[in-house]
Amino acid sequence: MGLNGAANELKIHRMRLPIWTGKEALVNAVKNNNTVVLLGETGSGKTTQLPQFLFEAGLARDGIIAVTQPRRVAAISLAARVALEQGAPLGEIVGYNVRFDERTSRHTRIKFCTDGMLVRELLLDNVLDRYSVVVVDEAHERTLRTDMLLGSLKRIQRERNTGEKRDKDGKRLKPLKVVVMSATLDAERFSQFFGKCPVLYISGRQHPVQICHSKAPVEDFQDAALRTFLQVHIGQPPGDVLVFLPGQDDIESLAKSIRGYVPQLPPTKQKVLVLPLYGALPPDQQKKIFDPPPPGARKVVLATNIAETSITIPGIRYVIDTGLCKERSYHTRHGGSGLDELLIKPISKSSAQQRSGRAGREAPGTCFRLYTEQSYSQLANAPTPEIQRCDLNSAILDLKCLGEDPMKFDYMDRPLDDSIRGSLITLYALQALDSQGRLTQLGRRLASFPLEPALSLVVISSQARACTAEILDIVSLLTSTAKLFVDNADTREAAADARKKFQHRDGDHLTLLNIFRSYEDVLTGNHNAESTMANGAPANTGSRRAAREWCRVHYLSEKALNEASTIRAQLRGNCEREGIDWKVSCGDDAEPVLKCLLDGLFRKSALKAPDGTYRQIGMQQVLKIHPSSSLVDRKPAAVIFDELLITSAVYARGVSAVHASWLLDTPLMNSNARNAAAPHTNGHA
Ligand code: CDP
Ligand code: MG
Repeated sequence: MGLNGAANELKIHRMRLPIWTGKEALVNAVKNNNTVVLLGETGSGKTTQLPQFLFEAGLARDGIIAVTQPRRVAAISLAARVALEQGAPLGEIVGYNVRFDERTSRHTRIKFCTDGMLVRELLLDNVLDRYSVVVVDEAHERTLRTDMLLGSLKRIQRERNTGEKRDKDGKRLKPLKVVVMSATLDAERFSQFFGKCPVLYISGRQHPVQICHSKAPVEDFQDAALRTFLQVHIGQPPGDVLVFLPGQDDIESLAKSIRGYVPQLPPTKQKVLVLPLYGALPPDQQKKIFDPPPPGARKVVLATNIAETSITIPGIRYVIDTGLCKERSYHTRHGGSGLDELLIKPISKSSAQQRSGRAGREAPGTCFRLYTEQSYSQLANAPTPEIQRCDLNSAILDLKCLGEDPMKFDYMDRPLDDSIRGSLITLYALQALDSQGRLTQLGRRLASFPLEPALSLVVISSQARACTAEILDIVSLLTSTAKLFVDNADTREAAADARKKFQHRDGDHLTLLNIFRSYEDVLTGNHNAESTMANGAPANTGSRRAAREWCRVHYLSEKALNEASTIRAQLRGNCEREGIDWKVSCGDDAEPVLKCLLDGLFRKSALKAPDGTYRQIGMQQVLKIHPSSSLVDRKPAAVIFDELLITSAVYARGVSAVHASWLLDTPLMNSNARNAAAPHTNGHA
């Protein structure tokens, strides 16, 4: 097919989407109203088409159209799709901006970004003057950043659209249009929030979906998913399969078992193409989801809830729903101990309906729910908005930077007052706020880093302690979304052996540093003359291959290490803007690095008690060192850690040893905590 043929095909595909018939009505509604809520079945064309309609109708003439997404993956792939439909290279008319990655130019008129990125832009310009339209997509997901945006957009509209705020010449600002898009039936609430604005509906093209519940409760969802897939594959007519799983680990492990089982099937059976889909997947692998499988093969996509509404996969006739998702939640019952963790949770009814709906996009389909009908009836109707269940520290800091009062902000759903207060106290302890609750200069600096406030403080204090090079390496690896250690139960021992040489006696943070540095030595050190590029660029194919092999034998994720390099590059930029020299290194001296980590992570520090368990400073939480830590046997007198994990007990993960005496200088060390400390645990173990 020639280029024109392909372009035609695209055009025809666009015109067949359910949204197309409503084009004029939609454009008019946006022209005539400040805010419009748009409701439509997943796959009806909202995300890809509406921005183009508005652009073609001239609504991007004096400002950019921003389209926000909760997930990076979706923002990038949607931008690529819309650029293709516009017949323009990605990054020109259509671009994207997500954390640690941006492709835009001064010609960009349609910009896909994560909701978090737009919140960051608010910090630089609190009326979003560059934008003429903000489309808040996937609003039903009610992420923390989406909720912060909704409240802020309402304020901006008041300031821009009524002339309340003027530019420096006293002229009125140009009005801001807002479109809130949702795939579920919660439109009324958004409309209420925006002063009863109009709601438009796109009637989708949904085919009937037969729903089969499990007869009895499922004990092992991995096993049940595998069996169900094999039954579909063996017994059901052609059609692709979509399996919803909670997280990346579950996806990788099911992918492995399916790939292991399929060769044992009779050779007459169709081939199987297994495709994972989750937030941290690199864009080139993500693209494969949209391709038809090779002739005679069945495609099975293993996805997180990303495939619920934000990405529509063609060809799906069967859905297997484990009924589970991973949800970040924050434990106020621990008195705000920093227990912010990803937990596997049952989904809501509205998610279950969205998931089953994915089977009926192109033809009648079937959904196999790996839970009983009774369990279904007990699910919550809709998920709790993230703002009511997560750590609010960085959100509250952002609100402070925007000049908002977090206690009075216009929340669509208000978080608990206790959570807001807890964050205010943490921010005060981090010295981001003064005793009057006013933003300090340090607070503003903390907010300028794309990190949680505690880690921003670690980076900033590395300047005074002269170890920024080391700290940026560690913080970048801690922030990477991909998992660094890729061993499983079978390979755990071999992996531990292979990685022994990286182990640092002071614990896991410095071990990370050793790993990152060894990786980079392989990547840059081993090149031979012919493949070295003149500019010394490290990524020649020879050393790439060596680095990949090095990752394999050490059971480390190359993806996580590469991502960390990207993050570090951005953090270096942040440091330069803050006047911090990121090249300053402390060499082999571990002390400044540990002290620096403690400067930010002091809320996540603990002292050993006589029974060998630990007490978290300031909250008396009892915890143990996680078995994956290099300090599990050494048990130093005082530790800091990255996160708590609750399983049979509360475990600290990512642990380093610190001097117990150092803890005395931290803001949280009060008499209570001191009493809890064991009398014999002075000094470094
Ligand atoms: O936002 P909504 O769920 O209403 O639909 P959309 O994301 O705009 O998708 C409309 C159509 O574009 C679907 O049929 C998708 O399969 C297609 N699409 C695609 O082929 N590639 C993408 N990267 C995104 C969408
Ligand atoms: Mg969409």
